[in-house]
Amino acid sequence: MQPVVTAFHHKSTGSWSYVVVDAATREAAVIDPVLDYDWRSGRTATAPADRLAAHCRAAGAHVRWILETHAHADHLSAAPHLQSQLGGSIAIGRGILEVQRTFKRIFGLGADFAADGREFDRLLDDSEELPLGSLVVRVIAVPGHTSDSVAYLIGDAVFVGDTIFMPDSGSARCDFPGGDAALLYRSVQRLYALPSQTRLFVCHDYSPGGREPLCETTVAVERAANIHIREGVSEPEYVQMRTGRDATLEAPNLLIPAVQVNIRAGRLPPAEADGVSYLRVPLNILGRPL
Ligand SMILES: [Fe+2]
Repeated sequence: MQPVVTAFHHKSTGSWSYVVVDAATREAAVIDPVLDYDWRSGRTATAPADRLAAHCRAAGAHVRWILETHAHADHLSAAPHLQSQLGGSIAIGRGILEVQRTFKRIFGLGADFAADGREFDRLLDDSEELPLGSLVVRVIAVPGHTSDSVAYLIGDAVFVGDTIFMPDSGSARCDFPGGDAALLYRSVQRLYALPSQTRLFVCHDYSPGGREPLCETTVAVERAANIHIREGVSEPEYVQMRTGRDATLEAPNLLIPAVQVNIRAGRLPPAEADGVSYLRVPLNILGRPL
């Protein structure tokens, strides 16, 4: 049996979310759900996640897992909202502990943020297997973009997070705290070692050249045509290209709100005495080597 995959595109952040259903049992996993955030007003909204929830209900799907490929820096996670609607356990790679520690320091968070992963229901190790009806979700650690990055292999489909994108878009940046271009190269080789016809679902697509957003490719196509990492590109060549390119990139628009929320598994910081939840902005810290 192969999973039934439905993709949802979040236009303003170029993110892809997925609902993955085991047709035999209707058990389902949601991968990387997005919470809307308007940086002008500081308002969140659940419309994108509600579309996923409606799809799950219409399909009669029982959500067992809400899986994050990593602590995203470009959008906020809607995992807790979906969990309140549909149930399921929120899981992320165990590397989130390092990400939490790093950003606890950067954002000057206090003792109420323990940085021990407690916000998540499950921390995942490389090669761990999660049940999904008649299928299995196999965790593949793919650090490089972030230290907590994991891919999820379900049947003939692999959800690669921020590793490689569609062939014409290359690979994810590696300049966030904990990022490492050489590690990303090696992680991508692990994905390329999967069977050539493995379906590969990306985490982002920014419609280069104005084409339609795309989410699905294969290992064979990526190995042959990815503009950053394809057969014949060596690790040193890739690291040189990636490092040079990263030096030209601005911080993502939602870096500051997204990281503070996503290291809490998508929950807003605890409300203060006035009942309002606040984010912090560390001045003159981010955007330079840490
Ligand atoms: Fe990312």
